[in-house]
Amino acid sequence: MSKKPARYTVTAALPYTNGPIHIGHLAGVYVPADIYVRYLRLMGEDVAFVCGSDEHGVAIPMKAKKEGVTPKELIDKYHGMIKSSFETFGISFDNYSRTSAEIHHKTASDFFIKLHDQDDFLEETSAQLYDEEAGQFLADRFVTGTCPRCGYPEAYGDQCENCGSSLSATELIQPKSTLSGSVPSLRETRHWYLPLDRYEDFLKEWILAGHKDDWKPNVYGQCKSWIDDGLKPRAVTRDLDWGIPVPVAGGEGKVLYVWFDAPIGYISSTKEWAHDQGIDWEPYWKAKDTQLVHFIGKDNIVFHCIIFPVMLKAHGDFILPENVPANEFLNLEGQKLSTSKNWAVWLHEYLDDFKDMQDVLRYTLTANAPETKDNDFTWKDFQARNNNELVAIFGNFINRVVVLTHKYYGGTVPSPTKLEKEDLATLNALREFPQTLSGSICRYRFREGSQELMNLARLGNQYLAGEEPWKVIKQDPGRVQAVMFVALQIAAGLAVLCEPFLPFTSEKLKRMLYPRGATPPQWKDVATPGSLLEPGQAIGPAALLFRKIEDTEIQAQLDRLQATKKSNELENASLMPQKETISFDDFSKMDLRVGTILSAEKMPKTKKLMVLQVDTGLDQRTIVSGIAESFEPEDIIGKKVTVLVNLAPRPLRGVESQGMILMTEDQDGKLVFLNPDEGGVGNGQTIN
Ligand code: MF3
Ligand code: ZN
Repeated sequence: MSKKPARYTVTAALPYTNGPIHIGHLAGVYVPADIYVRYLRLMGEDVAFVCGSDEHGVAIPMKAKKEGVTPKELIDKYHGMIKSSFETFGISFDNYSRTSAEIHHKTASDFFIKLHDQDDFLEETSAQLYDEEAGQFLADRFVTGTCPRCGYPEAYGDQCENCGSSLSATELIQPKSTLSGSVPSLRETRHWYLPLDRYEDFLKEWILAGHKDDWKPNVYGQCKSWIDDGLKPRAVTRDLDWGIPVPVAGGEGKVLYVWFDAPIGYISSTKEWAHDQGIDWEPYWKAKDTQLVHFIGKDNIVFHCIIFPVMLKAHGDFILPENVPANEFLNLEGQKLSTSKNWAVWLHEYLDDFKDMQDVLRYTLTANAPETKDNDFTWKDFQARNNNELVAIFGNFINRVVVLTHKYYGGTVPSPTKLEKEDLATLNALREFPQTLSGSICRYRFREGSQELMNLARLGNQYLAGEEPWKVIKQDPGRVQAVMFVALQIAAGLAVLCEPFLPFTSEKLKRMLYPRGATPPQWKDVATPGSLLEPGQAIGPAALLFRKIEDTEIQAQLDRLQATKKSNELENASLMPQKETISFDDFSKMDLRVGTILSAEKMPKTKKLMVLQVDTGLDQRTIVSGIAESFEPEDIIGKKVTVLVNLAPRPLRGVESQGMILMTEDQDGKLVFLNPDEGGVGNGQTIN
């Protein structure tokens, strides 16, 4: 777009309601989108920032089944959770909708009908994967197999998460049903296909020729390789009972493919918002002077750069995205984030653990954003970014300026009697920041922007350290007036310019510097320093912007992750399959009693065996037990144990064993007694 846009429609990928939001979502999509939008609003632009919950797709009924709830209960739970955590975190959507909303069902159905009536679909009967056991067609996440492109063994029926390719289920090598584990058969079914191949010329011109220079290289590169590989028609309907019913004849029992309906959710959400505002939604999606931008993660590129644009193009009424600044992935402590493995920092938990510290997470995720390559989030880095940058640089500078202004001038901005060379140089440096930051933000380089912002705080700190007003005040108070005046301009500049990156901090800082209803300056005003805080203006008292994060807080988070790792390992460790069913009579034949170990000796020349004397309540008897590798005799004398007393006696290395002590294993494979050591249970008590 060569002319300045009249308005902006900014979308952030609709999160699936099959789990809460984690830092990967935030770093990849929501934080950068929010920075961009907050910036546009500061520029006085007309913006619609829309999002909502993605509530269709096979992931939803699958997860519902796992949680033992209905799909509707599942989406209600996570929609509520996601919406409220976004709000608390300060993601400033104009509207957060959901794809189960009536307006969305209608918008998506109408969209489908229009393409159908225009003959934009192919209708085809073909053989698709079918799970005989589950009585269901398999597509998308219902089927896994080896990726035909990269050989990754766990690719899904619609996409390979390893190489990012978009796939059809029938392309998978050695497909397997995720419902029953069985090998699917083929069965005929009728579906509607979007003939992507018909749009190759359009895509070549629009993306390959038109966006070579302004789309991120990772995005452009992925698009190019798909287009170069040749595009194929893609099914946009599914044999499923969860989703938006196919609204044309022959569509009974079928629903729209989730990736057909979800992006239309951006349009529905805009309609919902405009309706609430009493304004017209159409310019936001139809006017040529609207700039449409999609914020997404890299696994969504094909859907936002190829499929959805083809849908929009086919429909005919809509504009196309101007840019799709997709991010790479964020890992956590060196491991891929995973909702199902609980390997994540969950937003709602973060907000509980670190109250009023939204900006710290925003800053960390931005400073380390996976903009050009996958990146790693570590709790140590989080702590360091907070303690060494936000606290030690930003917070420290503001605190010094505000405290000294109160100490020397009772909280009133001093008048600079004479500005020296270094003062002017510093003010000149400050003057550059609005433009530098705008440049970073407009080019979607938020990571760079966050570092520029920190450089402004550094500039302030260095200036103060160089001028040392706390020393100079004694011999040259006039000089300190100039220094503090300049430092206050930088503080004011920070208050204004940090808003997109650190909105909560900006708010606090503005309240501090512009108390009692004084109006803070605008972004562009920072280009004319000197006017940001005028001599004689009163500032408020110093308040804490950031607090230090202690090692114990970080350790608690690391411990939690360690526990997750352990429990995942346990879950993966192969448990013995359940044995054959027995009758109650079978069970009651066993005579289990509580006993006490009276003595214990290792059996000579064996590694495992120990000879025990056990008080069973009925008698004292000898039991030979294979526990010598797990216990020392002296540690188990006096222990209460569970004994099977009517097991047929048998000789072990010449000693007759008259029963058996019941044992289990801990996670390291060490034996543990099944222990009735609680509450004074007497020997001889039966166990049933
Ligand atoms: N729910 C999808 C995901 O989390 C994103 C959907 S984006 C939309 O990967 F465009 F379809 F809305
Ligand atoms: Zn692959």
